Amino acid sequence: MISRRDMIKTLFAASAALTLPARLSLAGSANAIKRVIPSSGEMLPVMGMGSSRTFDVHLDGATRAQLTEVLRHFFDQGGAVIDSSPMYGAAESVLGELLTGISNRDALFAATKVWTNGKASGIQQMGQSMARMRVDRFDLMQIHNLRDWKIHIKTLKAWKEQDKIRYLGITTSHNRAHDELIRALKAESFDFVQFTYNIANRESEKRLLPLAQDRGIATLINRPFQRSRLFHQVKGVPLPEWAREFDCASWGQFFLKFTLSHPATTCVIPATSKPHHMADNMAAGFGRLPDAAMRKRMIAHVQSL
Ligand SMILES: NC(=O)c1ccc[n+]([C@@H]2O[C@H](COP(=O)([O-])OP(=O)(O)OC[C@H]3O[C@@H](n4cnc5c(N)ncnc54)[C@H](OP(=O)(O)O)[C@@H]3O)[C@@H](O)[C@H]2O)c1
Repeated sequence: MISRRDMIKTLFAASAALTLPARLSLAGSANAIKRVIPSSGEMLPVMGMGSSRTFDVHLDGATRAQLTEVLRHFFDQGGAVIDSSPMYGAAESVLGELLTGISNRDALFAATKVWTNGKASGIQQMGQSMARMRVDRFDLMQIHNLRDWKIHIKTLKAWKEQDKIRYLGITTSHNRAHDELIRALKAESFDFVQFTYNIANRESEKRLLPLAQDRGIATLINRPFQRSRLFHQVKGVPLPEWAREFDCASWGQFFLKFTLSHPATTCVIPATSKPHHMADNMAAGFGRLPDAAMRKRMIAHVQSL
């Protein structure tokens, strides 16, 4: 009988095979790179999107048109995972409202978070998020920044059992929280874990990414641009010519393809308010990804700037 560990290895190998070189046509979403959710075997497109700040807006005419275009590009180019939180002000409501106007949103994989203390407050807040994002159930409910996680995990397990959510997860974006996050991941069975990983912040390579791979936990990677700081670092610097070797045409794709090329990355969730940035980001989910030698070259190059 195949062990859970062997099964996880096989699933990771299968999903890695889907990312292998082959010059893919960038037209259409069918060729979008996908990775497996180890706890179920379901495949997810590697490019998702966040909504912190970018969707926390008042929906006047111009903003509505701009963010609708952002969402349209996302689904046109094969996106599925949208990450939000009650912590992001109006973002859940804005997403809920705009998504009703998007005809090709069938692939939506709706993820939000619980961010409060106490069982009753958590239940109330998750119900409110459902109403705000206008979904009957969330694909993924995550415990935001580990807040009161020992209480919320009990509700999330019960809700998963009752099919009120499909997957459960836990998040941070702080390196200082990794010890506690690792304790949580070892104590409970999470389907997903969300944390920061980018070319300038590689702390999660040490323990979190290997742990997720070993235990078969899908990863959502936040802050792939270290908010916007990575772009400031390369401002005015031309993209190296060798970036073409992994089908990379912009600095945004350079940073995203770095994060995506770690074998334990399941899905990356950059946030943008601009349609042309969304188109740029989604293109990172197609074509070749850097191999181990190329990843080293990328790190050295960025460090030299
Ligand atoms: N603890 C947690 O659970 C936690 C913590 C942090 C983040 N998150 C999640 O992760 C998501 C991503 O993190 P983040 O929003 O903090 O930071 P991020 O995705 O690293 O960076 C977002 C910034 O990058 C800019 N940008 C996006 N695409 C670009 C492109 N192609 N070219 C140039 N600039 C580009 C955006 O500005 P424009 O609008 O101008 O494009 C925005 O200011 C969040 O939205 C949230 O959903 C979760």
